[in-house]
Order: sequence, then structure tokens, then C-alpha cells
Amino acid sequence: MRAPRTSKILYGGDYNPEQWSAEIWDVDYAAFELARIDTLTLGVFTWSLLQPDEETYDFTALDAAVQRAVTEGKQIVLATATGGMPPWLGKTYPEVNRTDFEGRRHVYGQRHNHCPSSPVFRRLSAALADRIAQRYTGTPGLVAWHVGNEYGGPDGSCYCQNCAAGYREWLAQRYGSLEALNEAWNTTFWSHRYSAWDQIEVPNALSEHWRGPNHTAFQGNTLDFRRFMSEALLRNFRDEKERIRAHDADTPVTTNFMGAFRPIDYHRWSEHLDFATWDNYPPGRDKHVRMAFTHDLMRGLKGGEPFWVMEQTPTITASRDVNPVKRPGVLGLWSWQGIAHGADAMLYFQMRASRGACEKYHGAVLDHAGRTDSRPFREVAALGEQLEQLGDAVVGARTPAKVALIVDWDNWWTTEITDGFNRHVSYLATVLGYYDAVWNAGAQVDVVPMTADLTTYDVVLAPQLHLLKGDIADRLHAVAQRGGTVLTSFWAGRVDESANAFLMDAPGPLAPTLGIRVEEIDSAGPGETNPVTLALEEGSVDAAAALVMELIVPTGAEVIGTYGADFYAGTPAVTKNTVGAGQAWYVGAGLDAIGLRAILRQVLAGHGLIGPYAGTPDLEHAVRERVGARNEGDGEIERVHFLLNHGGVPVRVPAHVGGQNLLTGAEIHAGESLVLDPTDVVVILEA
Ligand code: GAL
Repeated sequence: MRAPRTSKILYGGDYNPEQWSAEIWDVDYAAFELARIDTLTLGVFTWSLLQPDEETYDFTALDAAVQRAVTEGKQIVLATATGGMPPWLGKTYPEVNRTDFEGRRHVYGQRHNHCPSSPVFRRLSAALADRIAQRYTGTPGLVAWHVGNEYGGPDGSCYCQNCAAGYREWLAQRYGSLEALNEAWNTTFWSHRYSAWDQIEVPNALSEHWRGPNHTAFQGNTLDFRRFMSEALLRNFRDEKERIRAHDADTPVTTNFMGAFRPIDYHRWSEHLDFATWDNYPPGRDKHVRMAFTHDLMRGLKGGEPFWVMEQTPTITASRDVNPVKRPGVLGLWSWQGIAHGADAMLYFQMRASRGACEKYHGAVLDHAGRTDSRPFREVAALGEQLEQLGDAVVGARTPAKVALIVDWDNWWTTEITDGFNRHVSYLATVLGYYDAVWNAGAQVDVVPMTADLTTYDVVLAPQLHLLKGDIADRLHAVAQRGGTVLTSFWAGRVDESANAFLMDAPGPLAPTLGIRVEEIDSAGPGETNPVTLALEEGSVDAAAALVMELIVPTGAEVIGTYGADFYAGTPAVTKNTVGAGQAWYVGAGLDAIGLRAILRQVLAGHGLIGPYAGTPDLEHAVRERVGARNEGDGEIERVHFLLNHGGVPVRVPAHVGGQNLLTGAEIHAGESLVLDPTDVVVILEA
């Protein structure tokens, strides 16, 4: 199953009519018409209304909300209401409240914080999902089920005794014997050999950790605990999904992810979702590259199938220390960016601002006064009109990418819980550095898991590929062998799936592909750099390395970049090996954007993958294509190009294709001059 194939990009968002009187509903629905809102997510935080005590279910409020949405002809995304627990649940069954990293059992409060291993939570959440599915399956306009909400909570972990028991069971299944576990965790170190399963404690501040969740005595243990927690939360999702499926075989089921959220391995979750959705709240103002990356990461969860933006704010968020408004035009620009990267729905949190509690000042389609002449509302309405104009032109369409960027949660976790080297290195920052370099060259990218099929890509980037799983080394080798380019970076090829070092020269199983040996790893504090000179086809490029400088001995690879300072001045920082018909690059340093962009330009140019607007800073070009929807079944590829001006100045570029401007209806001729003011978007259906 996949995202619903709707007749247009869905538009709307989280609506909580249960907080409001009937008069306000009338005001709201009139405003929704003005803004062309066609989709409402209902019931996300209604558990305490739907089940006022353990024995009583009362659907009066949700019935009324659903009924009204049906009457108004809206599409409905119906939640299972389990994102926030009711007070009676936390009071009667303290086990549903989480125990934190310090070992403190919490009492009732907040949301997204149930203990995933609690049998009571599992029973009652599944029972609620069951009742809701039974009652509302077949509701006209029901377009998707929304299970829970933003699984994970602050750190995605509970350390209670139920979780400890669940963890031991999970370990017993994974390893089969204590002997295998002792081997995997290398427990002879520090006299840790376990002789009974119940000796295993959850890794937290009371056991293996100091200085917080990233400092552990045993990476194997902490890594397994992260995997277990991710799966325990997934089991909660699956409990509810199963109940939905018992009543409704057809409507897609999903939950809203949080993009690049470290605690949960979304790759391990993805096969259980019918389609992916995520909540887009970029930190700061100018985060368009990070958003592009996250959209691509979310699209990669279901093999490139369209995803939804389940939440974004029309204006401000409320949870940050500083909450700036979206500047004029930015709401539209960022929404179109999501669509350009594969979103088939653009939904808001929230349709109307709550009158009290911590989100009362969070941006909303309708403010406390319900105004429809405010700047935010006018921008929401303008986008609604454009989406109507676009119709179904890109619904279901995919991104034709020849570049893959591997992102892997095991690597994310492992590199950040490992002592030695440099604690200032962030996995996400490394990955984003490479994404930025490709984005700047205007190439389309699929962000994929390590297990993805790599055979269709010309370029495969696997930055900081520290932990190797399965046959990844062979599959990367094969990419280069057949003429592709692979690239990895510092810390690569060091450990197996248990985070134990390979007993061979680094980069371990990747060494034959890369044609190098890494002898030492030097690290520097923030702010310190070592100059790196790159000898590229365009000429010599002066870049700089920060945080990590590996000392590389080529065993066949050509030297592309050399350090400029310290006792290893003149030795390789960047290498390129020839493998079969292709190449394997190694970037052994924490290279700056100048260096990464220059390298990626050369790599991408070698495969003809530089985008048509790569010369224009901050002008993004993204493509979606699909087969034969224009003339049903004719097999013709329809391609839609999105041009998005994220920069602060107007740009003028020649159109690289001709076609129809889907937002104005105008014809565009190839070569014709296009002018895009800041935040402007052009959508071209290629002729
Ligand atoms: C999301 C959440 C919503 C709302 C929103 C505010 O994380 O799903 O319920 O809290 O953030 O930005």
C-alpha cells in the first residue's frame, strides 16, 4: 500500500474542534472554504474525552467532529488518539509513565511519553484503536489513519523494569545464548562477563553511562538498547495498526515522523507504514538545504514513493527559545519545496490556535480572533488557491535521482556513543555537508538506507560509514566496478554490527575498494583547522579540514588532496581509486564546504549530473516524474520541474526546458528568460 492517490495535493491539517463551541466551528469552516482547505486531521489528542475512565468509552465529541467534517465534504485523516494519555491512566497504572535516564519514574504529565513496554499501555492503546477503527471505518472521505503522534518523546527511551525485562527478552532472541552476547559486547573488557540474563541492566546513568546518554562503557550494549527501544515503540504502532486492519483492509495507515530524529530508526519502521509522513519545523530561518535533505530522507523510507508533510506551521512555532515568524512568501516557498521533493499532502499544525496551555501562541491557520485578513491567513489562502490550480499534476510522481546518499541510524548512534577520536563530530552534520555539496550542484538525490538497492545509481555517497552491515562493502565495490562513483569519508570501515573493531587495517572491508590504509586519526578542537589543497580537474582548490584529520597511506589510490600543516603536512587527506570502470573516493578529513562542493562538482560532472541552474546560488531545481497520467496508459513520462528561489535577491535564468507554467497557465519556451524574485516558485510541466 502507498499514499492515497488523490485528485490534488491534500491541504489542511490538525483540527481540534473538541476544544471549541459550535459557533466557532461555523467560523472555522467558512474560513476553510476561503483557504481551500480540503483535509482535516481529527482526534489526535482526544483520549481523555473518548475514554473518561477505564470502563467507559464516549464517542460523542469525536462523532460530532467527524460528522461535521463529512457534511462539509472534507477528507479526513483520523487519529487513534494515543499520543497523549488521560490522567486516570497514569494515576491508576504508574507503569505507563516512563522511567528516565537517571532512573526516576515519572508521574502523569505532558504527552508522547508512555512506556513502550507497559502491558497496560499496550492493551489499552490497542483497545482504543480498535474501537475507533470499528466505529469510523467506512466514513466518507476517510483518507488515512494516523496512529499515535510523533512516537519517541524527548529521547525516545524508558528505563523501567518492564523495559529491562523486554530488553533481556529481545537480547535473548537476538543472540540465542549469553555466550554470543558476551562475544558481541566484548564483555571480557572490565570484567563484565554475564552468566545470567537477569544480570543485564538497561544502560543508563545508574549503570554503564556517565556524562549522559552518549558516554557508555559498552557501545554494544547501548547500541542494542537503542535498537530495542526503537522496536519497542514500533511494536506500539503495530499493536494499533493491527486493530485498524481488523476492521479496515483498505485505508492507508501511517504516523507522523520527525525527520532526522535520532532516537528512532525510521528505516526499521518504514516497512510497517503504508506511507511516510513527517512534521516539518526547521530550526532557524534559512534552513532550506536541511529541509531538502529531510524531505529526501522521508521519501527514501518507502523506496521513493510520495510522502506527506503531516505538519508545518503557517507562521511561528512555540517550543523554541526564539520563535521568528515566517517571512512573507516563505510559507509558500517551503511548502512548494516539500511538494517538489515528493510530498503529496501539505498539512498544518494547526487549524485554530488553542486558547490555553503551552501552544496557545503557536502559529495557526486561524488565530484567537479567527481573522481571515491577517498576513498568515492570506498566505495560507494563496497557497490553497495555487494547489487547486495545480490539481493532480504531480500526485504519485517520483524523483528521478541518480545520486544516492546513505544514511544509517546504527552509524548515527554508534559514532556518537563511541569514545576516542572526537566528540565534536556530529553524524548529521557530516551527512548534511555532503548533501549540501550535491544540492549546490543541483543534482537530484535519494537519501537511502544501507540496505537499499544501489544498482540504479551513478553516484553513491556513504559519508562516515563507520559501522558496516551485511554485504555493503561488496555492493559499494560493485557500484564502482560497473562505472559508478562511490565516496566515503573519515572513520569509515571500522566496526561490525556490534561496534567491535575489524581486526585488520582501516578502512577494513572497504580498503580494497578505496585503495588506502588509514594509519592514524588526528583530531582537533572546534575552530582549529588544517589547510587542504585539492588537485581537481578545475585546478587547485584551497580548502580546510576541521575536527578530523586522518593520516592515509595510499595502497593504489591517487592522492587528490594534501594537508598543509602539522607533522603530516604534504600527506594525503583525500584520495581517489580506480575500480573497474569507476572510482572510489575517500575524504579522510572533516572537509569544509568549499572542499566538499568542489569534489562533488567534479564527481557529478563526470556523470553528467550537474543541475541546469547549478550556477545560480540558492536557486533550487527539483524534478518529479510519472508515467502516462496525461494520456492514461500511453507510457509517456510526464516530468514536472520546480524552480525555487531561496536566495535574498531576484535571479534571471534561461529556462532549461519548455512547457507549461502550472501556476499561471502560461507557455514557457526553452531558453526563455525566467525571473524569480526571492521566495518565487515556478512549476513547469515539461512539453
Ligand atoms: C508537533 C506535534 C503537534 C504540535 C506541534 C507544534 O511536534 O505533533 O502536536 O505540538 O509539534 O509545533
